[in-house]
Amino acid sequence: MTKKDVVTKILGRRKPELKATGTAWAPANIALCKYWGKRSEDLNLPVTPSLSISLGPLGARTEIAPRTGTDVVTINGEQWPPDHPAARRAIEYLDLFRPEPGLRFAVRTSTNIPIGAGLASSAAGFAALALALDNLFGWRLPERDLSILARLGSGSAARSVFQGFVHWHAGVTKDGMDSYAESIPITWPELRLGLLVVSDEEKALPSRPAMRQTRDTSTLYGAWPSKVKHDLGLLMNAISYKDFTMLGKTAESNALAMHATMLDSWPPILYWVPGTVRAMHRIWQARAEGLDVYFTMDAGPNLKLLFQAEDTAVVKEAFPDVQVVDPFRFETMRR
Ligand code: PMV
Repeated sequence: MTKKDVVTKILGRRKPELKATGTAWAPANIALCKYWGKRSEDLNLPVTPSLSISLGPLGARTEIAPRTGTDVVTINGEQWPPDHPAARRAIEYLDLFRPEPGLRFAVRTSTNIPIGAGLASSAAGFAALALALDNLFGWRLPERDLSILARLGSGSAARSVFQGFVHWHAGVTKDGMDSYAESIPITWPELRLGLLVVSDEEKALPSRPAMRQTRDTSTLYGAWPSKVKHDLGLLMNAISYKDFTMLGKTAESNALAMHATMLDSWPPILYWVPGTVRAMHRIWQARAEGLDVYFTMDAGPNLKLLFQAEDTAVVKEAFPDVQVVDPFRFETMRR
């Protein structure tokens, strides 16, 4: 089963009605229960389910138009050379959708995700690209299929098709038609996220080989699926009952467990830098002093804080560089 087979399955006999341009917007997302490890590398099928929160007004807007000649990929006004790894990934993704081989695309993406914040911008980017293609070709696919198409670009992009809380089902089938994300229809307007950049250096090891290395060599990784199952249950309850402490504790513990599996890999994987550990201690200290603040982190050195709106001023005082995000302040999803 290849990506192309999945696309054929989803598009079926749909006749493309090619428009002059397709546009779409998709938010970035941060996992509260992480996706770490693939059961299929080619289809980006995860070993476990995951749960995220989208970043409301922070994400990517993509415009796509057909053209002849070559594909052109422009990000924030800068045209990427076709051999740039990210441009190559986008072009390989576009290869899945050409109704005839000569049809090329001009893709223009602009993001308002802070550069270097360690937010997987590929999630928002591939979700926006999948939605923009749906718009360009007039497919009008159901959200489930759009999530699957976004996943073929980047695993976590499956979740960026939605705002708010999102649950990505791992699925069990070989073709991954049961591995898609769904919106959890609960809003929590008092919830805040804080982006804390401790280093904006490019990460040494992308998540794909890091996941592979963890799966192949870490014995602790054997415990990861049961950790995810446990944490997903707690997070679902925390969201239903708006229990912030349970949400924060579970998200922080889940992120640390993911990093523990990386430390247990060989060669060891450690994304933290000294500033990461200093920030963790500052968070734990603030918590010991009574502030309800927690953190999560991904495949990079930066932290994402979790707190409630009423504590915004205190959090900003304790972490002056933090960028506060209000995840539920978004207009209805713009396609
Ligand atoms: O979709 P990828 O390959 O960028 O992987 C993302 C993995 C983490 O960000 C570390 C966790 C997650 O669930 O987003």
